[in-house]
Amino acid sequence: MTKQPTPYVLETNNLCKNYGGIEALKNASFSMKKGETIAIVGDNGAGKSTFVKNITGVEQSTSGTVRFFGEEANFENPFEARRAGIETVYQNLALIDFLNVTENMFLGRELTFFNFGLFSWLNKKKMKKEAKKLLSKTNVHINNLDQKLVNMSGGQRQCIAIARAAGWGEKLIIMDEPTAALGVKETSAVEQIIQGLKERQIPVLIISHNLRQVFDLADKICVFRQGKIVSMMATKDVTEEQVVSKITGAIA
Ligand SMILES: Nc1ncnc2c1ncn2[C@@H]1O[C@H](COP(=O)(O)OP(=O)(O)OP(=O)(O)O)[C@@H](O)[C@H]1O
Ligand SMILES: [Mg+2]
Repeated sequence: MTKQPTPYVLETNNLCKNYGGIEALKNASFSMKKGETIAIVGDNGAGKSTFVKNITGVEQSTSGTVRFFGEEANFENPFEARRAGIETVYQNLALIDFLNVTENMFLGRELTFFNFGLFSWLNKKKMKKEAKKLLSKTNVHINNLDQKLVNMSGGQRQCIAIARAAGWGEKLIIMDEPTAALGVKETSAVEQIIQGLKERQIPVLIISHNLRQVFDLADKICVFRQGKIVSMMATKDVTEEQVVSKITGAIA
């Protein structure tokens, strides 16, 4: 089969997700081109996280399709999506409490990194060094990378997830409210990481309630309301006021 060249990283067509009687996602059709940073905004419960979870295989959609680089992608679990090159920072973090920092940073990567999947002393050392390098970019201070996550703060855990995604992501990085739990300094460090990804032309899909952040980072703004995508706008063409009225459904 010959591959069709496509300008799109991600496309969804009429994606729907019902939870029992709740239509959390209604015919979401969306596309994202290579090199774009797109922000998804919307009120609590608008369907933003559901959209992400149904793209990355955390959940299976009720109907509709997802295409990744032009090819239909029905990821059965988040690990399949990671293997395909989608790194995601979930709103409810997918980190493992009983593993330490380094092990979490390399979660699901061990097999591609090492031949036999068993950690040798040397590999552990290399992983720790690499983990330290990735984490230093987030400004978060974690003294001991052998520390298990169960003892760490929400902000520290979030920074680990972000550093992991930014470090591994090549084809697409999705972040669901990455800075919601972070302090001012850490938020600005994460925003710098995202700027760095932009400069490297790595597509980033970021969900955020912080409109200042959205306007600083995104090329386009996608608004969700009551499970539907109600608007997709170039950031340079809109004001914060207009975005707010799309979010709330008020007439602009
Ligand atoms: N596992 C689930 N079972 C049942 N209903 C769910 C489930 N997950 C989400 N929902 C419902 O689906 C709707 C969309 O939820 P979702 O988490 O996608 O919202 P969101 O836009 O991410 O909101 P927030 O900004 O608060 O994170 C909500 O009404 C929510 O209650
Ligand atoms: Mg959410």
